[in-house]
Amino acid sequence: MNERESLKINTQGHLEIGGADCVALAQAFGTPLYVFDEIYIRKMMGVFRNTLQNRYAGKGKVLYASKAFSCKAIYKIAAQENIGIDVVSGGELYTALQADFPTENICMHGNNKQDYEIGEALDAGVGLIVADAYSEIDKIDAEAKKRGVCQNVLLRINPGIEAHTHAYVQTATTDSKFGFSIQNGEAERVTVYALSKKNVRLLGYHCHIGSQIFEKQSFVLAAEKCMDFAAEMREKHSFTMTTLNLGGGFGVWYTDEDKKLTSEEYAEYIEALIGAVEEKAKTYGMELPYLLLEPGRSIIAEAGITLYTVGAIKDIPNVKKYVAVDGGMFENPRYALYQSKYTPILANRANEKPMETVSIAGKCCESGDIIAVDVSLPKAQAGDILAVFSTGAYNYSMAMNYNRNKIPPCVLVKDGNAEYIVRPQTYEDLVRNDVIPERLQK
Ligand SMILES: Cc1ncc(COP(=O)(O)O)c(C=O)c1O
Repeated sequence: MNERESLKINTQGHLEIGGADCVALAQAFGTPLYVFDEIYIRKMMGVFRNTLQNRYAGKGKVLYASKAFSCKAIYKIAAQENIGIDVVSGGELYTALQADFPTENICMHGNNKQDYEIGEALDAGVGLIVADAYSEIDKIDAEAKKRGVCQNVLLRINPGIEAHTHAYVQTATTDSKFGFSIQNGEAERVTVYALSKKNVRLLGYHCHIGSQIFEKQSFVLAAEKCMDFAAEMREKHSFTMTTLNLGGGFGVWYTDEDKKLTSEEYAEYIEALIGAVEEKAKTYGMELPYLLLEPGRSIIAEAGITLYTVGAIKDIPNVKKYVAVDGGMFENPRYALYQSKYTPILANRANEKPMETVSIAGKCCESGDIIAVDVSLPKAQAGDILAVFSTGAYNYSMAMNYNRNKIPPCVLVKDGNAEYIVRPQTYEDLVRNDVIPERLQK
């Protein structure tokens, strides 16, 4: 585990997060339970915000990529920390609006935004829309015209970079569904197209090369390619980029196979990006663009842990031992999706040495319903509280009701206090939208 001020083992040998004893949290709120450490979230938002503010000669803003974890409370925290957000659907936008998030600091994403989502974004008055299709540009233009406004737009471009990460979270390879390729000329063609639209104000470009990336060089290369492209567009089409959004993707610690980056090291990543932008601006004699960064995972992943209660234990001699918990792919589908790795511990016996290698299974009717494979634990027993680290990003936000399991609640901890930020689902919630047509009533 990664000890830090707000994540430690207390005198009872229990895991503690944000001053709250995990065993007590499990008793008070039940399991499975997502727990979020407010201090860590604010610290990471501050690292990105302050580095951009203090090191970049131009201006800029951090946009929390809220697909990583979206609920009203996180939008409140982002607003208090003076950062913006990116939303990727009408649902995320609606949630942010419900939290009174300042709409000028919202950037709307999506590779296939629906007409109603573009309409909702315009009605809300979002600061930016990132267009990722010709049809979206048409729609933004038409909807903006209807409302008598001109919408600020970025184009999502694809610099053709293969970042070293899981194929499913690479987003800037030439065959990606995201972005307009610089290489094949599409990014240029769409620039000219967007510039021809009266109610679209093209400010610049967006690029996001993928997620869980640790190589600084991949980020730097992407920034350089965007700047090269912007210089080319100025040369060829007299278009001056005023805003550049370099996305997110900074890696986090899940297991000891990953680097554990300190705040200073995260700052170095941002500085490397800034350096690349400043250098290229100097080379080309360009004004520094307003710079946007969109970290999601790096802000929220390590802020979160999930608590479970151990149930059935199945030992297949000389093959595998399964420790089953009361959660599973319905609240963390990331192993099923990407074979993601996690680090679990027994929260009620956190000082005990690991004694055996086990796999943590969920309770869903699916063989792939696994939380962690071949991990070291003390000998687990039914009733133990298992904690899994770094589950703050893309866990609750990817949760589902498979097998009609209830999506667990989320609590926010600070100074030993824990409060719901997402209440538990009930069985009633599960059947709320079910309808039995009249003809089936008999
Ligand atoms: C456009 C965009 N920006 C930002 C992010 C956030 O990435 P991460 O959570 O890895 O920082 C994503 C993630 O998929 C994305 O698609």
